[in-house]
Amino acid sequence: VLDHAGLLIRSRLPAARRTAIVTDETVGGLYGQRLASALQPATEVATVTIAEGEASKSIRTVEAIYDALAAFGLERSDRVVALGGGVVLDIAGFAASTYLRGVRLVLVPTTLLAMVDASIGGKTAVNRPEGKNRVGTFAWPELVLADPDVLGTLELSHVREGLAEVLKAAIIGDPDLLAQLERDGTRYATAEADWAPLVIRAARVKAQAVSADPLENGPREALNLGHTFGHALETASGFTLAHGAAVAVGVLAAARLAARLDLAEAHLPARVERALEQLRLPATYAGPSPPDVLAAMSSDKKRRGGRNRYVLPRGPGDVVTGVEAPDADVLAVLDSVWRPAAPRATASETR
Ligand SMILES: NC(=O)c1ccc[n+]([C@@H]2O[C@H](COP(=O)([O-])OP(=O)(O)OC[C@H]3O[C@@H](n4cnc5c(N)ncnc54)[C@H](O)[C@@H]3O)[C@@H](O)[C@H]2O)c1
Repeated sequence: VLDHAGLLIRSRLPAARRTAIVTDETVGGLYGQRLASALQPATEVATVTIAEGEASKSIRTVEAIYDALAAFGLERSDRVVALGGGVVLDIAGFAASTYLRGVRLVLVPTTLLAMVDASIGGKTAVNRPEGKNRVGTFAWPELVLADPDVLGTLELSHVREGLAEVLKAAIIGDPDLLAQLERDGTRYATAEADWAPLVIRAARVKAQAVSADPLENGPREALNLGHTFGHALETASGFTLAHGAAVAVGVLAAARLAARLDLAEAHLPARVERALEQLRLPATYAGPSPPDVLAAMSSDKKRRGGRNRYVLPRGPGDVVTGVEAPDADVLAVLDSVWRPAAPRATASETR
């Protein structure tokens, strides 16, 4: 896909005189030149490189991108091509949707998470001191080009971030995929895996959910499955817990809460646990106590009328939103996924 990006864009989209590739240092070093060569000579190319990592998703970076687009002479009929993981896609998408009130945008996701999640649904984002993703736009790309071959250079820990979202997508909308992950998900847990089938199936689930509700007024909320628990775990841990691990544990917690409230089939949590094990994703977390996690959850913006609201699975392919659950049940579920730190040896034992 990467080497044919020029052809794929030209055969589907209006021509652009200039194209600005926005990427980060690592991805640009690995794939920037290949993408630029694929686009040239049909369009004049400039590459804008931002620092990698979450800290880059700031207004300051947006300004640096605007400066580079202006220096390149980018006009409204020209195009930005974002090449990278979710960080690059979010920030380049925001810059493209606001520069000159919006220029054309193509996304080339290079992480599994970006292929199945961040590149789909039109959300762009910038972080603010008061919180992540506080500023953003809805801006749909003209085209998303995902080349699973580039995942070969991605660290396995980053692949795992994406696998957690794949499992979430399977529960939301692809029962066959859930059954496959339960049966032989280990084949996707190694560095040599071919993730292309997962990209296709998980991307389809997200695309269907966002097409039904582009501006997130209702049904799209289903995509938050496991994320109310996940965000609270991340926050209460002071962001020492990886996002993928938090989502993995969060999805299991949601299944357990659903079973506890008699919403879900009783064997659903065991199925989710098997899939986590196959994918080498955690089913428990070490760190903040359940009451601390509940407190973090209660400051979440999804709380209404003093009760938290959850997205819960009734079964594979059947998710309900806005379920209010008593705190006692939530605490019991959190307790089941909590692995308290080993007690410290007392002075007399260490002597
Ligand atoms: N807009 C949305 O709908 C949406 C959805 C989910 C997540 N997000 C956002 O996505 C971000 C996380 O994205 P991410 O997990 O892709 O992380 P990331 O963009 O930070 O990328 C992770 C790391 O991998 C490197 N990398 C990327 N592709 C590579 C490749 N093919 N080979 C080698 N290295 C590569 C990057 O340089 C970076 O260091 C968060 O900021 C999150 O808020 C947005």
